[in-house]
Amino acid sequence: MNVYDSDRMIDVLASVGYSVTEKPNNADMLIINTCHIREQASEKLFSELGRLRNIKIERQNAGKPTIIAVAGCVAQAAGDEIFNRAPYVDIVLGPQTYHRLPEMVLQAIERNKKTVDKGIIDVEFPIKTKFEFLPNAAAKGFSAFLSVQEGCNKFCTFCVVPYTRGPEYSRPVEDIIFEANNLVRNGAKELILLGQNVNAYHGEKTKSQPGTEAGLGYLLRALAEIGGLERMRYITSHPVDMDDDLIAAHREVSILMPLLHLPVQSGSNHVLKKMNRRHKIEDYYRISEKLLAQRSDTRFSSDFIVGFPGESDEDFEDTLKLVRQIKFIQSYSFKYSKRPGTPGALMENQISEKIKSERLDALQGLLKDCQTNFNQDSLNTVVPVLFDRRGKENGQLVGRSPFMQPVHVTAPEHYLGQIVNVKLVNTTSTSLGGEIDFKSELEQETYNTDSNFENSQI
Ligand code: 5AD
Ligand code: SF4
Repeated sequence: MNVYDSDRMIDVLASVGYSVTEKPNNADMLIINTCHIREQASEKLFSELGRLRNIKIERQNAGKPTIIAVAGCVAQAAGDEIFNRAPYVDIVLGPQTYHRLPEMVLQAIERNKKTVDKGIIDVEFPIKTKFEFLPNAAAKGFSAFLSVQEGCNKFCTFCVVPYTRGPEYSRPVEDIIFEANNLVRNGAKELILLGQNVNAYHGEKTKSQPGTEAGLGYLLRALAEIGGLERMRYITSHPVDMDDDLIAAHREVSILMPLLHLPVQSGSNHVLKKMNRRHKIEDYYRISEKLLAQRSDTRFSSDFIVGFPGESDEDFEDTLKLVRQIKFIQSYSFKYSKRPGTPGALMENQISEKIKSERLDALQGLLKDCQTNFNQDSLNTVVPVLFDRRGKENGQLVGRSPFMQPVHVTAPEHYLGQIVNVKLVNTTSTSLGGEIDFKSELEQETYNTDSNFENSQI
């Protein structure tokens, strides 16, 4: 989501004449877009700011003013405190106000001239959504993010998102289709629909007819109609919002990829209850069975938290058991991190750092085995790969399989942005190497040529 937000900030600022530079020393404005989800992520802000301060001073000495902005969820949570700790910051803005950046920049330029001491702060949750004010999304490569839903009303007891991103909001279907069309026209072959709780999506079909709400299944079917769009994915989902219509869409929408990121957090009902996750492990198994019944090649990835307050050895064992059963093919796992203002931070029976580390090591070892096994099983199969970037080696392209595995191939440059059949020939635990499968490519071409003559007569 932050990658998407940063791109949209670039779009907003382009409309008032800014462009991106790779060199911070050339920048008239420096923005840090922050994440507040775990303590480690938040802590990075102030060390990074020290670095930006030096750039600001150097540039000032050369007669060039610089604006420093702090955006995102740390800005939302810390607000004014950022100015106290780093008075050289000019702008503090939350994740829901970046459409107002141009006004803030103008104010900051004025402020720099007058050297007024207080910076500009905008951490509201405006009633009118920022999406109404954003310019069209510019081209973002062959695989593009598209935010369809934001915020969250679930209030899991470990999580800051409902406080920093605000309440759940779904964009109208027609606006999403408009943005999707733009992205595809600009070269995107794959769209990754984003939301903190994306499968809780319930946007209006059309703005002119309020009350016509649609779920994510409807949205996916509607987007699948866009000519030239070849792949779709959506992240991140919550098990309780995996409704039957969405599950059916996994069979009906052939361009929906077979990897579902469905965070479970823990394999123990006791811990899930304390986390206020609102589902049981039995529900997770049931969802996975239903999905597999619709599409037998469905695979799962997940997020896990170890060491949530009160997690016993048995609870942790239950998590390992779940991983062995579902065989997640890639996952993210974290030590529980106390977040100020969340109920979890005040719970008794906090787990020691030592136990958290031990559990994380054990879990990550098991998750890595699952991933390695899946990659091993993929060897010698032919899979469609969307090549989206050049590799480190000369003549090498890198793309993604339907299961998001990175695949490295020696391939002609014109395959960039194409989906090409690749035979997988070697693997590490995290990536695969392959060869273009010219045989199936040829069959594809022959097939296409034949179909060009479909309506011809002899
Ligand atoms: N501590 C550790 N991990 C967390 N996550 C969210 N909040 C916390 C926290 N306080 C993890 C969850 C979530 C992912 C985005 O980050 O696993 O799914
Ligand atoms: Fe956070 Fe996801 Fe729970 Fe919402 S559903 S509170 S975003 S973990």
